[in-house]
Amino acid sequence: MCGIIGYCGHRPAVPVLVEGLRRLEYRGYDSAGVGFLHTDGLKVIKAKGKLCELDKKLAQENVFNATSGIGHTRWATHGEPNEPNAHPHVDHTGRLAMIHNGIIENYQEIKKELLAEGVTFKSETDTEVLLNLISKYLQEEGEMLPALSRALNRVEGAYAIAVFDAQNPGVVHAARVSSPLVLGVGTGENFLASDIPAFLPYTRDVVFLEDGELVRIDASSWQVMRVRDLSPVEKKVDTITWDVQAAQKGGHKHFMIKEIFEQPKVIQDCLCGRLATDLDEVRLPELDCLEGAPKRIHIVACGTSFHAGLWGMYLLEQWARIPVQVEIASEFRYRDPILDPDTLIIAISQSGETADTLAGIKLAKQQGLKVLGLCNVVGSSVARESDYVVYTQAGPEISVASTKAMCSQLTALLLLTLHWGSKTGKLDPKIHRDTLHGLRSLPELLEKTLPALRDRAFELAREYSDADSFLYLGRGLYYPLALEGALKLKEISYIHAEGYAAGEMKHGPIALIDPKFPSFAIALDDDLFPKVKSNLVEVQARSGEIIALTNVGLDLEVDHRWDVPRASGPLATFLALPALQLFAYEVADYLGKDVDQPRNLAKSVTVE
Ligand code: G6P
Repeated sequence: MCGIIGYCGHRPAVPVLVEGLRRLEYRGYDSAGVGFLHTDGLKVIKAKGKLCELDKKLAQENVFNATSGIGHTRWATHGEPNEPNAHPHVDHTGRLAMIHNGIIENYQEIKKELLAEGVTFKSETDTEVLLNLISKYLQEEGEMLPALSRALNRVEGAYAIAVFDAQNPGVVHAARVSSPLVLGVGTGENFLASDIPAFLPYTRDVVFLEDGELVRIDASSWQVMRVRDLSPVEKKVDTITWDVQAAQKGGHKHFMIKEIFEQPKVIQDCLCGRLATDLDEVRLPELDCLEGAPKRIHIVACGTSFHAGLWGMYLLEQWARIPVQVEIASEFRYRDPILDPDTLIIAISQSGETADTLAGIKLAKQQGLKVLGLCNVVGSSVARESDYVVYTQAGPEISVASTKAMCSQLTALLLLTLHWGSKTGKLDPKIHRDTLHGLRSLPELLEKTLPALRDRAFELAREYSDADSFLYLGRGLYYPLALEGALKLKEISYIHAEGYAAGEMKHGPIALIDPKFPSFAIALDDDLFPKVKSNLVEVQARSGEIIALTNVGLDLEVDHRWDVPRASGPLATFLALPALQLFAYEVADYLGKDVDQPRNLAKSVTVE
């Protein structure tokens, strides 16, 4: 979802802005633009489409004089993705330029007021409305800070904005509510961005801005204050430990394939420091202040993180015997749920910035519940809003379609299950021990298995890339995986796919089965295998073709067996998941799709 960047320093600003936008491309966008001071005044250059279109326009200009400016990649919300709606927007006086991520909910009422005062608009965006409100207050107040404070106190909704004033070109002002914004502190230069990779080649020192904060940067200084009354806020500078390398493709064709192949390391990193050397205990010091195991759990998440949560429900109930409910955050937040005070909310989010998940956290906290954030991005909003945080430690995930993040979420959920299972005393110590043992060797097993999984995915992708639809089937722990397999395929190949609990198929989707409607089954060796097998016979009876992820030696006859190595209990999930991801990847790559930035999707969904 929209990427924003601001720069004040000593370098030519435009290349810094464009490179920063390139590192934010993963967020998903449909147009891009930059704003800076040119010899003859404020200059804004925008283009519909990818950054290469903006590059073409910039190549015709002399852009090397400016040492400050703002840049934006837009993911359309108000108004179609065209050049007039692209950011930066310029106010009607031609003095200010602004970029925005988020949605201003009361923009229509403000627009009416401004129209009545004679302001004209060039776009359909809510952004241009907010900008003209700032501009009006700037004329009345004579200074930017009080103008910004007045305007932002009037608007409702979510925003991260950055404003550039042609009469004060070495300065950028920015503010946020419910949309991500970080400040990068350099030497003789300062940055603002939606995400750290945008400025990581220049500095690792960052300041995480909170909701309701406003920041002013110039080349040599920065100040944070409250939007409400402009009172100063003391901020801590954090140093990021990961580097640019971790956010680059490293020789792979796409980030997605790189990230799928990183999963052995992801498991290892997530386990790091959390398994006692004697193998008997999971250590999660983050949860030390939670006495015992929670009585009830309510998991709230979106997309792939929701599927991880669903998988966690099966495991936590079965092994730790804790009642668990899992819910899509966008439903949870508006449902007026009845929550028992003993319930622990677990908010799962890779980015830690998903608007619906954050709203779910707020709702739970208003009701006095404690929240555990399971998230990947250190210092993200989910991490900051939660009472406890377990970081999943997957490293930066750039591909829009989430892969390694889910692997890390599943690892963390497994650790939580083992941890609470021994606290409740409900988990058989032998299962506990065997699983810990299996977890230790899992990264190596996965590492060895991945190349063969990719080869098989490659073969099958060629055979099935002309399918119009796919049905993904699984039961128990593999039902959430069926949902995830279907999600991956539709996200990046645009082939319609539905995930279904295999036993539920007979209640509807079976009507779709014919020789041109293939099914992808997860039929691994567990207690439910005989049940899944019967469901697959139902598919075969309707001449439906089947690809089945299964284990060597299992008695199963389907069109395409895909044998994966055995792993004990739920650990088999960690071998099945990359197979599903690789199949989707190979199909999308074969079809020539934009794998890392699929159409219409955003990495970090910061609007509801
Ligand atoms: C977007 C992404 C998905 C992701 C979902 C939830 O839709 O495209 O890949 O699963 O958001 O994101 P989160 O960062 O909260 O896990």
